[in-house]
Amino acid sequence: MIGIIVAYDKNRVIGSKGRIPWKIKGEQRRFRELTTGNVVIMGRRTYEEIGRPLPNRFTVVVSRTGRFEGEDCATASSLGEAVELAEKLRPGKNIYISGGAGLYREGIALADRLYVTEVETEAEGDTFFPAFPEQDYIKTVDERVEGEIPFTYVTYTRKDGK
Ligand SMILES: NC(=O)c1ccc[n+]([C@@H]2O[C@H](COP(=O)([O-])OP(=O)(O)OC[C@H]3O[C@@H](n4cnc5c(N)ncnc54)[C@H](OP(=O)(O)O)[C@@H]3O)[C@@H](O)[C@H]2O)c1
Repeated sequence: MIGIIVAYDKNRVIGSKGRIPWKIKGEQRRFRELTTGNVVIMGRRTYEEIGRPLPNRFTVVVSRTGRFEGEDCATASSLGEAVELAEKLRPGKNIYISGGAGLYREGIALADRLYVTEVETEAEGDTFFPAFPEQDYIKTVDERVEGEIPFTYVTYTRKDGK
């Protein structure tokens, strides 16, 4: 299974000045639950923002300029190479494309599912999740969480079963 995992706001903002532009307690719970024990693929900037491989999962960083290697981490120079590497090094594990914008844009065609956290805010941002053909997916609403900034976990599953 290849999935995309993202949190975006009402305008599909995902980032601002290299950061996630909101801080909501518990918002990353589903990210942690789904990706633990599996593989995340992320762009070099997103990786550097986190600053280390996330615990209990394997990270493939996509970069043409840097190398990030370790027990829990490898580097690929393209998204396709990252998927190949993940399948080779962690066979049978789910693969979650975890941003940023370019990898999301490319990854939509590869992904069976989009795991989206819809954040009910309108943040200032400079990085966006791309528009995608929503009519090609079945959308399920998994959980809405109330709070100062409410958010909803939704899943888009491709109708063609790719
Ligand atoms: N809300 C969310 O769910 C979420 C998730 C992730 C990130 N974000 C936010 O998004 C922003 C970062 O995203 P971003 O789009 O600016 O950067 P990014 O995708 O994290 O990193 C960009 C870098 O990744 C490498 N890269 C990306 N696509 C590549 C490809 N196809 N082939 C080879 N290398 C590739 C390049 O590294 P080199 O320059 O080293 O070649 C590129 O400069 C931050 O604000 C972050 O907080 C939000």
